[in-house]
Amino acid sequence: MLTRALVIGATGQIGYELVPALRKLYGVDNVVAGYHSKKPSGVLLEGPVEQVDVSSRESLEAVIKKSDFDEVYNLAALLSAAGEKNPQLAWKVNMIGHYNVLELAREYGFRVFWPSTIAVFGPTTPKYKTPQHTIIEPITMYGITKYAGELLARYYVQKYDLDVRGVRWPGIISSEALPGGGTTDYAVEIFYYAVEGKPYTCYLREDTELPMMYMPDAIKSVIQLMSANKARLKLYVGYNVSAFSFTPRQLVEEIRKYIPGFKVEYKPDFRQAIADSWPKSLDDSVAREEWGWSPDWTFEAMVKDMLVKIARKLGKKLDIEE
Ligand code: SER
Repeated sequence: MLTRALVIGATGQIGYELVPALRKLYGVDNVVAGYHSKKPSGVLLEGPVEQVDVSSRESLEAVIKKSDFDEVYNLAALLSAAGEKNPQLAWKVNMIGHYNVLELAREYGFRVFWPSTIAVFGPTTPKYKTPQHTIIEPITMYGITKYAGELLARYYVQKYDLDVRGVRWPGIISSEALPGGGTTDYAVEIFYYAVEGKPYTCYLREDTELPMMYMPDAIKSVIQLMSANKARLKLYVGYNVSAFSFTPRQLVEEIRKYIPGFKVEYKPDFRQAIADSWPKSLDDSVAREEWGWSPDWTFEAMVKDMLVKIARKLGKKLDIEE
């Protein structure tokens, strides 16, 4: 049987790469790229697209009604930094949007993927190898909506027997669409400056260690979790998934192995306090046990691959053996 899927937030950093990955699995015509304010471009236009406002039940239902979707991937969210600039909008998109998807899942019977984040953790959480179950007192609107959303999703799973699944992603590094409004965005931005030969001003202190993951592993986590045997899942949403951790200084040192003259200065802004409230590494043993999670990419391999990809994208020549 063919699976039909809707990806909400398709023009964002993760949606832009999840849509083609799902189209490879389900067929190009069976995966609809849902967008809102940012118009779809590039690979997204190879298949169907629909404008949808997740925070409006009517808008969402109009798209859901058109097609018999088996799965909805709700990636629409304001991230940590954007959420602090407009907490009211973050609540609307992240929380009401999530509620609308769950309510329509209850009525139309589709499965849901909905990601959470390391931003659910706060300053009182143990920083290293942060356990799955621990003190959770987020300080950003983003973290608050995502933790409340985890509880809400699990409620719908228990009460209405819905199939809702999701992970807690760390910062995601990728070469296709740019991230927007996150605290971990520096770790993508920096590659463009390095490849262009421009100096970079980092908004986090050089010793700010954060958990991160390369996009191919992020996509793998979605596909693996969505195809996992339901009988083995206990948590359903909010699985810690981890790959590697690094500081801005370590990232700069790794980039300098290929671009020795790369110049960076550090000017921490409001995002420093957000980063300081998050874990430095995660314990993802529950994801490993329940659905066999393991990442493929190391920090070093990611940096090399990013440089190759960004150089190709910007039409620059770097002396890197592929
Ligand atoms: N990348 C996100 C952010 O920085 C974390 O989930 O807000």
